Amino acid sequence: MKESIFYHLSPTYPWKDRFHFFPEVSSTNDLLKAMVKEGAPHGTAIIADRQTGGHGRMGRSFHSPGGVGIYLSILLRPDCAPTQLMHLTCAVAAAMCDAVEAAAGFRPGIKWTNDLVYGKRKLGGILTELGLNTKGRVDYAILGIGINCCQSPEDFAPDIQHIAGSLTMVTGQEIDRAKVAAAMLDALHTMDAQLLTQQEAILSQYRRDCITVGQDISLVRGEEIRHGTALDVDEKGALVVRFADGHIESVNSGEVSIRGMYGYV
Ligand code: BTN
Repeated sequence: MKESIFYHLSPTYPWKDRFHFFPEVSSTNDLLKAMVKEGAPHGTAIIADRQTGGHGRMGRSFHSPGGVGIYLSILLRPDCAPTQLMHLTCAVAAAMCDAVEAAAGFRPGIKWTNDLVYGKRKLGGILTELGLNTKGRVDYAILGIGINCCQSPEDFAPDIQHIAGSLTMVTGQEIDRAKVAAAMLDALHTMDAQLLTQQEAILSQYRRDCITVGQDISLVRGEEIRHGTALDVDEKGALVVRFADGHIESVNSGEVSIRGMYGYV
């Protein structure tokens, strides 16, 4: 797999010497976090064929069977304050749209903030984890991405069969996972080069890809559910929502459901 990924990588990709492939890990994000403690450098990346403990936002598990998906984590160590990375998850999501477009020939959408979608189905997700140093500056950012590549509908567990999709289900064609993996690494390298200097351009692209804007949504935070309309994504990547009582607020946490998607009616 490693050789096939390197075959498809751009010749200018600079982090080949810190790329690791494993047949099986618990979670690529967790393994990378352990490598940070050993001093892993900027650009270190891990891809696993399968994960036994893959996880996503809000403590949810991310089903990661072998031979069908790409489970990738990459480490960035930008020298900046955490407030300069408010748009990080948006930047990764837009980069992953670029990667899928390059490798599979179609551009997915983004369900705010971190789901890659096509039609009403989720193709993948992103989990970003930030660590700070004693001065309160960024020590590490771990960007974990899972993309369903080759699954058929019946490959998904019954409880997610109606909401999960894969690149092959969208294109009707066989998907070369090594090509997808290489496109993801290349897109992440390009994103890293623009992250701190091109925030506006990154967010403009994110807004074009984000399917949540303009939709009726519900926002769930703990026991509380609030209904509204998504108006925009602000300069920090927060979702601007007009709630049913008319007041407008930027939300940065909680689960946003879009009417008509993922079983929400
Ligand atoms: C989500 O949908 O909430 C995010 C899912 C993120 C899954 C990826 S797969 C690679 C990396 N390792 C993990 O344990 N999680 C991320």
